This record gives sequence, structure tokens and C-alpha cells, in this order.
Amino acid sequence: MAGHFYYGDNLAVMRQHIADDSVDLIYLDPPFKSDATYNMLFSGPDGSSPAESQVRAFEDTWQWGPEARREFDQVCQEVPNIGAKLQAMRTILGECGMLAYLSRMTIRLIEMRRVLKPNGSIYLHCDPTASHYLKVMMDAVFHPVRGELRSEIIWRIGWVSGFKTRKRGWIRNHDTILYYALGNQFTFNKEYIPYPQGYTRRDGSLPTGQGIPIEDTWNCNRADILDSIMIKSFSREKLGYPTQKPLDLLRRIIRASSNPGDTVLDPFCGCGTACHAAEELGRDWIGIDITALALPVLRGRFEASSLGANFAVTGMPASSQDWRLLAADNPMEFERAALSLIDGCRPYSERRGGGDTGIDGLIPIAVGRNQWRFVVVSVKGGTHLNPAMVRDLRGTVERESEKGVIAGALVTAYPITDGMRRELESAGDVDILGRTYPKLQAATINEILARKDQRLPELALPLQVAAPLDRMRLIRDDVAEQYTLTGER
Ligand SMILES: C[S@@+](CC[C@H](N)C(=O)[O-])C[C@H]1O[C@@H](n2cnc3c(N)ncnc32)[C@H](O)[C@@H]1O
Repeated sequence: MAGHFYYGDNLAVMRQHIADDSVDLIYLDPPFKSDATYNMLFSGPDGSSPAESQVRAFEDTWQWGPEARREFDQVCQEVPNIGAKLQAMRTILGECGMLAYLSRMTIRLIEMRRVLKPNGSIYLHCDPTASHYLKVMMDAVFHPVRGELRSEIIWRIGWVSGFKTRKRGWIRNHDTILYYALGNQFTFNKEYIPYPQGYTRRDGSLPTGQGIPIEDTWNCNRADILDSIMIKSFSREKLGYPTQKPLDLLRRIIRASSNPGDTVLDPFCGCGTACHAAEELGRDWIGIDITALALPVLRGRFEASSLGANFAVTGMPASSQDWRLLAADNPMEFERAALSLIDGCRPYSERRGGGDTGIDGLIPIAVGRNQWRFVVVSVKGGTHLNPAMVRDLRGTVERESEKGVIAGALVTAYPITDGMRRELESAGDVDILGRTYPKLQAATINEILARKDQRLPELALPLQVAAPLDRMRLIRDDVAEQYTLTGER
């Protein structure tokens, strides 16, 4: 099926790339207004203590400021009937984080309505923090103009244990999914849960139907098992991406509200659960995410499955000018995007409570069964490059050598200086499985991109060894567990 990942803000992407009335089904799982920052976790083999490595994936904190005000004003000016509802929200809430969240969501919901086909369906996944306000804004956008709320689905997250059970009060254990469908001819393929063994009707007779029709409360009885993977220590689905949803949840929604060949849009796609389910079920899909970290995880999950990662990608910086602009505007995104270019490289920049380690990424190399060596990657987006940066990298490689680090790589937005080149050369070579590689290497983004065609970039030469491994397993299992930085054991 045709799949397309867009890197960028979904508002701009939808406006620029997605035609009116072109999408059959939208599933969105936006940040919930949790006022938290979500990190991508690299957990140990038992799935517990996800403490070894983490990197910021996305922020769910909202402040009333110029950006939110601009989007609020745009809605009020351009779509006055919806703007009136947003103004009512301002009266109720005042100018606060929640109003910022609602303004930013509403302007995007308006785009979603534009791209949705006249008989299309939309599922907005949220939680009780903002579901009541979002419903008002969804009504404003999708009802009564062309559609209406069909169901408020309660998805029970799953069994509760440990700390959560001690809460003083009712334990929060559900998300809300607001389901709207436009027109009268919307697709709905009724979904059934197979009858459990020994199931009889109330009069004792055997059932004759297709199964138990699914209600608007999901994962709420023994027959309907649809637990969140985030509460399962051992789920094989877990990719370490925060707030990842279970494939079965998305399969249910996509099967019910679309047909093979239809187009499914997930404008907040994260690690691409909806994209994965859509591909598997023979739908075309469009995924959009604003963090570059989503792409390698999405690509990895497709490669690790039987689907193959044959989807298009738009929006990743292309020219050196794009890369330099990104480095100047958003150094963190530059770093993530740069690391995503190197096969097998995992981000490793922000440590829980730790300081700057000099390590932005780690490339694991399998040198034997359960035996790993690592290349550390340091990303420099700035214009000021100097030999001290190479010396620092050399220091990091030496410091971490007892943890299996054998080489280092510097990735830069601008060409390195002659002095840096001399420092690199003075570091000598390293032998990896009988082949010799420079111990310290450097490449500009452009050089990496140019070599990418041959899939043998100089930087990634050692990765020939790592490439055949299942990268997703690498995240979850051995690597994070084995690699522990100095002083943290
Ligand atoms: C809750 S997560 C989605 C998780 C996803 N359903 C999954 O199963 O992996 C929300 C995602 O929205 C992305 N996001 C936030 N604001 C965005 C925006 N304006 N445009 C595109 N993506 C955005 C975040 O980077 C994050 O990956």
C-alpha cells in the first residue's frame, strides 16, 4: 500500500500537502495536555527499569503566548462560527495553558475537517484532562455543519498494580476516544468479539450470531482484551516511544471505519501505530509528526515486521541550507534528525538526571553473540568548529572504552577545519572483526547524505556488521542493558 510520512508541524503539512476531501479516516492521538515532557525510553531486557537511556521525544506543556494567540486569532478571523466557541472558551477559562491547547487543537481540527471526505470518519483519542473541552470544539468543527458525534468510546487502559492502586480516590484507568462521522453514507464495518468458549445466550441456547457486538466501552470485560501495551512489562510491541498505542486498538478502528484501499491519516503519528495497522490492513496511509525521532522508530518497526519500509518521506531537511537553518532554529531537532540519518544509530543525549556526557548517539555493533561494541556519535550544528571538539570526542571514547566503546564519530552541519582533520588522523585506527577503520571519523550532513545512496557511508562502515540485526530488538534488549555509563552502575 502507499504510505507517506511527513516530518513537520501537521498544520503546515496538511495545508501544503493534503487535498480537500481526500482522506477516509483520521485517527489522532495528540498530546493530552498532560503538562509533561515525554521521553523515549530504552528499557532493559525485562522491560522494567527503563532507566538506562532516554531522550526527549515531545513536550506536552502549553502556555498562553504569541503562537497560541496567533492561532486563536486566526480561527476567530477565518472561521467566525468556530471562533465564537473558542472565544466562549476564553471567557470560561481565561488566557491559560488550556486555552492555548484548545486554540492549537482547534485550528488543526479545522484542517482535518477540510481534508476529510464527505463520508469520512474521525477518532480523537484523548483523556479526561481535556476531553470535555475537546468535545465542545469537535462539535463546533464537525457538528452540526456536516457530521456529528457518533460515540464517546471509553477505552479502559488495563489492569492496575503497584503505586497506582494506592491512589486516594478513584484510580484513573481510561482514555476517551471521540468518534465522529460525516454524512449518512459513512463506512462502518461492525466489529464483533468472538464468543468465548462455552458461551450461551441468556436462555441457555447456543449463540448463532457472528460474535458479541462491540459496545462503546472497550477492554471492559473478560471477552474484550485490549490492554495498553504501556502497562505490560513484556509486550513485544513496545518500541520505547512514549504513549505508544496498541496495534489491536488501531486495527479495530481502521477495520471498522475504512475499507481496503481507503486512505487513513494520523496527523500526530508518533512511532506510527496507526500507519502500521493501516499498511497491514491494506489501506493507504499518511503519518505526520513534528519530531524527527518518530521517523527512525517508524522505519524500524516496518523493517522489523514483514511489511518492509517502502514508504515515502517528505519534509526531512534536504539541502545543506535546510540543515543549517534547522541547526540554527532548533538545535535539538537538528541533532535528532542528524542521528536519524545514520543507520542503526540510537539517540543518547539526555540522561536522567545526568549532565552532558559528550555522547549524542550510540551505534551498536555486534561482534559476537550478545557481544557488543559501540561507536559514540557527537553532533555539532554550529559554525564554530575547532580541534578541541575532536579531542573531547577522543576523551569520551577513551573514558567509555571499558564499556565497549571503540570509536567515535563527529557529525557536523559545516565542514570541519584542517586542524580537526589532523586531530582525527592522529587518533589512529581500530580493528573491527578483522577490518580496519579510523578510530575517529567526521562527516558533514551532506557527506552522509551523498554516501547514503551507496548505503556504505564511511561513518557507518562498521554498521555493515550491525545492519542485519533486528534494530527494534536492539532498542529493547541487550544494548541499553549492557551499555552503562561510567559511574552509574
Ligand atoms: C501521543 S503521541 C502519539 C503516539 C502514537 N499514537 C503512537 O502510537 O505512537 C503524540 C505525537 O504527536 C506529535 N506532535 C505533537 N505536536 C505535533 C504537531 N503540531 N504536528 C505533528 N506532530 C505533533 C508528538 O511528537 C508525538 O509523537
